[in-house]
Amino acid sequence: MTFSYYNPTAIEFGAGKISEITKYIPKKSNVLFVYGGGSIKKNGIYQQVVEALKNFNFFEFYGVEPNPSVETMNKALSIVKEEEIDYILAVGGGSVIDGCKYLAAAALYDGDAWDFLDGKKQVEKALPIGVVLTLPATGSESNSLSVVSKKSTNDKRLFASDFIHPKFAVLDPSVMSTLDDRQLKNGLVDAFVHTCEQYLTIPNNSLVHDGYSETILRGLTTLMNTWENKDDSDWRDNLMLLANQALNGFIGCGVVQDWATHFIGHEITAYYGLDHARSLAVVQPHLLRVMFEDKKDKLEQMGKNVFAITDANKVIDKIESLYNNLGVSTKLSDYEVDDKVIENITESLKKHQMLKLGENQDITIEKVKEILQKSL
Ligand code: NZQ
Ligand code: ZN
Repeated sequence: MTFSYYNPTAIEFGAGKISEITKYIPKKSNVLFVYGGGSIKKNGIYQQVVEALKNFNFFEFYGVEPNPSVETMNKALSIVKEEEIDYILAVGGGSVIDGCKYLAAAALYDGDAWDFLDGKKQVEKALPIGVVLTLPATGSESNSLSVVSKKSTNDKRLFASDFIHPKFAVLDPSVMSTLDDRQLKNGLVDAFVHTCEQYLTIPNNSLVHDGYSETILRGLTTLMNTWENKDDSDWRDNLMLLANQALNGFIGCGVVQDWATHFIGHEITAYYGLDHARSLAVVQPHLLRVMFEDKKDKLEQMGKNVFAITDANKVIDKIESLYNNLGVSTKLSDYEVDDKVIENITESLKKHQMLKLGENQDITIEKVKEILQKSL
């Protein structure tokens, strides 16, 4: 086994931790406080952040939408330049955080920062970012990834860089009290799929990686099965920590990864606007069935260590029923898609050169068609 692992994000976990942000932001910073559509004004987070920043020079930018767009973030970029911002504080879910990561890299780049999303350029520097997380799902609060959309062309793309890794992240589970069921369910499903993308590939000899992934999968399964406890503080604490650990980079380092469900899901969201987690749920069970021969050994291991099931086929049924029992559909036909959906998604994958996905690079465009056909 060989790997490099780097995670420089300081984590402040627990109720009342928002005030700790002052420990991390240098005193003389010009801070841009960035948030989404306003949920933080309904649950006291906005007031707590403003109180914490009272001795800082700060500006606000709001209106980052779910699936953040360059069109919106480029408006924030004008403020960064005009006000000589040198610290970005992202207060929100994955969308606000990812938008801020783009902003941090764009601020110190002379060209069009979409170059990072197109893979034309690597990030060489970025402004520092701090995070107050309001929605446990993506893991973006302590990873090096950012997913940004260009609405004008239906593109939703990803870039990665150590320079955009947040310096700190506040994980205060009490902020989840205002999350609606839809977003909470999205968090459970997204974190579950993140773990699968790094675990359900080929057998490996690492007891730590697989053991840790199985712990996360068992934990998320327990939360899904105890949905009625979603307002309990233990339930919330667990979801916030599980979602963070599912994509903070550790379980994926040094092991073969998949990510095909995500790449196909991103194209579905870009075209048809499904929530990120919903786009994964309509792909993953069908992908596992189509790619069964590749996944069989790991599905068997997952069955034994996560669900106490011996039949690998039944493991896929079990995953699907976990989502369905939450009310998260695994059928694309339950959403407003048109009869061109397979064509649109596969053409987008071709445009983005995603012709061979999966841990064995054998999820071809033909296989994607088969997967989507099963979802209709
Ligand atoms: O904008 P506001 O008003 O804050 O409302 C948001 C938004 O409407 C609301 N919300 C967030 N916290 C809340 C709250 N409502 C009430 N109370 C709270 N405490 O929830 C809605 C959805 O927020 P969003 O940030 O879009 O959700 P999520 O965290 O699921 O992020 C999804 C985005 O992250 C990307 C996805 O593709 C998508 O663009 N991902 C990022 C990853 C990464 N950087 O590592 C990995 C993921 O696989 C994913 O691709
Ligand atoms: Zn995801």
